[in-house]
Amino acid sequence: SLVSMRQLLDHAAENGYGLPAFNVNNLEQVLAIMQAADECNSPVIMQGSAGARKYAGEAFLRHLILAATEAYPHIPVVMHQDHGASPAVCIQAMRSGFSSVMMDGSLMEDAKTPSSYEYNVDVTRKVVEMAHAIGVSVEGELGCLGSLESGMGEKEDGHGAEGVLSHDQLLTDPDEAADFVKKTQVDALAIAIGTSHGAYKFTRKPTGDILAIERIKQIHARIPNTHLVMHGSSSVPQEWLEIIRQYGGEMKETYGVPVEEIVTGIKYGVRKINIDTDIRLAMTGATRRFLATQKSEFDPRKFLKEATVAAKDICKLRFEAFGSAGQA
Ligand code: G3H
Ligand code: 13P
Ligand code: NA
Ligand code: ZN
Repeated sequence: SLVSMRQLLDHAAENGYGLPAFNVNNLEQVLAIMQAADECNSPVIMQGSAGARKYAGEAFLRHLILAATEAYPHIPVVMHQDHGASPAVCIQAMRSGFSSVMMDGSLMEDAKTPSSYEYNVDVTRKVVEMAHAIGVSVEGELGCLGSLESGMGEKEDGHGAEGVLSHDQLLTDPDEAADFVKKTQVDALAIAIGTSHGAYKFTRKPTGDILAIERIKQIHARIPNTHLVMHGSSSVPQEWLEIIRQYGGEMKETYGVPVEEIVTGIKYGVRKINIDTDIRLAMTGATRRFLATQKSEFDPRKFLKEATVAAKDICKLRFEAFGSAGQA
């Protein structure tokens, strides 16, 4: 059944676990997530980006997620709008029946230029007022995702600020977070700790200087009752990079957010962990491998099935590691 984000995250906080929030664009991703959740009895957060809505169309995206609730009536599902760039986008999602929206006011409506703090408070509070009136949850974001390694905001691979960002923009300030939550009344807060969207997050296995897990502790100490959200949280499995390369793909050396670092984050109040890239890598690796080795197959269900199984395995590993397995 469809539930609000707040319900799931409150339960996660009470029971000390985290929930992966997987991005979805098509049938196979929805199937993979639901099969994994069913097998390990986990609640589910599925989220659609603006890009997902453009790819599938609003009606298909909505009905795919609603179909999941019909096929698996025993699994609680959140239908979440990822990175709403304006109140208008969030209103559209609410009208479509989404049970949760993200008002990403860390950037201006172009989704590239960093915003002022006042703008962020203003648009986020506006969305919270409307959403709460109809039982929809709201995630806000304070701080811009981007690399502490280079100081660069995101470019082609991800979304978000372009160009060089200051240390202040790249890390969420605990005092500002407290003021932001008080003024906006958001249900969950996405924080910036050095992660970025896409496959190219770190040029080496991250250590504390480029992945600021310590900052999560400081924010949590300041706002212990606020559910924290980590974006750009794919772990970028080296095994899948290897398989992609082995079967003709081109991927440079890169490192993601280690699962054990996320598990530490969960100890300090992280309740929602956004994952898109890991599913993309697994599906691409499985598809490349299948098509390269089964050269006479031409039924798309054959390689899509392989891709679905690969995505399902990733989902199960995350449900288990974050502790949401067994909580549905
Ligand atoms: O927010 C980033 C997610 O990975 C969605 O990516 O905009 O390419 O659908 P997308
Ligand atoms: P990844 O690119 O690390 O999977 O992050 C996805 C995300 O944060 C979606 O909002
Ligand atoms: Na989100
Ligand atoms: Zn994100």
